Amino acid sequence: MPKKLEQIYEGKAKILYRTDDPDLVIQYFKDDATAFNAQKKGTIADKGVMNNALSTTIFEYLGQHGVPTHFVKKLSDREMLSKKVAIVPVEVVVRNVLAGSLAKKLGRAEGEKLSHPVVELYYKDDALGDPMVNSDHVLAFGWATKDELDAITEYALKVDVLLTELFARHGIRLVDFKLEFGRHKGEIILADEFSPDTSRLWDMATGEKMDKDRFRRDLGKIEESYREVVRRICGA
Ligand code: TMP
Repeated sequence: MPKKLEQIYEGKAKILYRTDDPDLVIQYFKDDATAFNAQKKGTIADKGVMNNALSTTIFEYLGQHGVPTHFVKKLSDREMLSKKVAIVPVEVVVRNVLAGSLAKKLGRAEGEKLSHPVVELYYKDDALGDPMVNSDHVLAFGWATKDELDAITEYALKVDVLLTELFARHGIRLVDFKLEFGRHKGEIILADEFSPDTSRLWDMATGEKMDKDRFRRDLGKIEESYREVVRRICGA
């Protein structure tokens, strides 16, 4: 078992630790929650435990279905052993249903089914508020090569197909989600997390939101909703 060494980086929701294996890191999930580029801050009780459980289950599932991920092993309630990656500084959002910033931008109501999945790219830079960019920007600024961007787009759409089906089996509509990819030994792999912090999940029966919009919009029942997602997806 790799030994946990010093902290490499602390983000808004996770801490990364070095290990005595240079190819592996430990990702620790915190309860801290932020929204609107950290203008809103809070904590969600046990969020780290729930997001680790969900990310673990989902990354294992994706790995078994042909999407390479950084996930190696769940070490504890809050810790995931992961392959060390150099993060591609581009956040990939995939949308199936109109919601959030796109609904706002177009002045249309949330909930409209999109006839085709919409892939959006954002340059990962907190100081700039993660501006939306297109594939030409990614290539022109060298954030990824053409081959890398093709792989990222293909994996993101494959994740969409696989997880839309997985969540639907548990009565949850996968509205949209955000992914981050990294380079490990020259290959593009899915990294970071998949959780209600980074996706929109609506109960298919009631339309209730089961994701971080409950925190962003002060809708209450935040922990309960995350726990229900974990119960359905991880069977816990
Ligand atoms: P948006 O509608 O606010 O652009 O969000 C689209 C999806 O991306 C949604 O599932 C939430 C997720 N997301 C993040 O994971 N991190 C972020 O910083 C933002 C803005 C959105």
